[in-house]
Amino acid sequence: MKNILVTGGLGFIGSHTVVELQASGYRVIVVDDLSNSTVDVLENIEKISGIKPDFHQLDLRNKSDVQQLFATTSIDGIIHFAAFKAVGESVHKPLEYYENNIGSLVYILQEMVKHNIKNFIFSSSCTVYGQAETLPITELEKTKPALSPYGNTKQVGEEIIIDACNAHQLNAISLRYFNPIGAHDSIHIGELPLGVPQNLIPYITQTAIGLRDELSIFGNDYDTKDGTAVRDYIHVVDLAKAHIAALTRLVNKENTENYEYYNVGTGTGLSVLEIVESFERVTEQKLNYTIVERRKGDVTAAFADNTLVTSKLKWQPEKSLDDALRSAWEWQKKNT
Ligand code: UFG
Repeated sequence: MKNILVTGGLGFIGSHTVVELQASGYRVIVVDDLSNSTVDVLENIEKISGIKPDFHQLDLRNKSDVQQLFATTSIDGIIHFAAFKAVGESVHKPLEYYENNIGSLVYILQEMVKHNIKNFIFSSSCTVYGQAETLPITELEKTKPALSPYGNTKQVGEEIIIDACNAHQLNAISLRYFNPIGAHDSIHIGELPLGVPQNLIPYITQTAIGLRDELSIFGNDYDTKDGTAVRDYIHVVDLAKAHIAALTRLVNKENTENYEYYNVGTGTGLSVLEIVESFERVTEQKLNYTIVERRKGDVTAAFADNTLVTSKLKWQPEKSLDDALRSAWEWQKKNT
């Protein structure tokens, strides 16, 4: 049985990926500093899979702790989620973002080299494309200078991994996520935003349940079908499964390059208003919303061409938008 280290394994995408790893027969070791998650997630993972993963509460900025972890743990592959991820916050706290997102990445790669661990999966983001020239976005699209320190940590992170792969014969895959949403079918795990949600779906569900007065829709003067911005919303369980496909490709030595990167999205672009309408239909809730100014840094439209990931990783999205919205709503009701 292969041992997989999952950093940030109690977070939104991390926890869903742990469950899928367990279902695929991997043994999981979770590292998380609990800065944006709670330890209860471990038990909730166990409720789904029947297996409680090994857990280390550890801050990956602490180099000696990282060294100690690798010195005492047998690891065959790593899926690295742990990172700060609030775009707006990163503008005000850039050095914390660089220290956390870049520092921890470097320490992990150093330990991989030291312990001859070859397989690495990185959480990247479609934010590396900025406003793409061509839609849907393929992996041939040029990356753009990042609009935020957060976005820059994903770009620089990918570059660091490329250099490490070349120098040290590591094998890595970056997954460039579009917009992950939804919750596990069991409703035992989901997204737990701290404070006021920055992302669309948790803001919608919190508004529908009465925690927020109304949703602010950021701009209706974009050059899109209805004027609101367009994104590619992917069910978090599908996204989690893409990590298993990527890891399995490396473990089975099926990769053709030592560094590969894939867009992970559904291929469908939907506007904010379309999401609101779907949410209202699926949940039979009426949502209060108002149109406000555009949000700084938002692109007009981003959705994936997922041809590469579906062909090379033999993965494809299985769940619908309705599944995602329904599960997000069930999750909100359970947690309120
Ligand atoms: N939106 C609103 N009102 C809200 C929240 C969001 O109208 O209260 C709109 C946004 O303007 C955007 C869409 O809903 O058009 C989606 O916004 P999210 O904040 O949910 O997602 P983003 O596309 O802005 O950002 C996400 C991740 C980032 C990642 C980025 C890559 O949150 O981490 O995708 O594009 F970098």
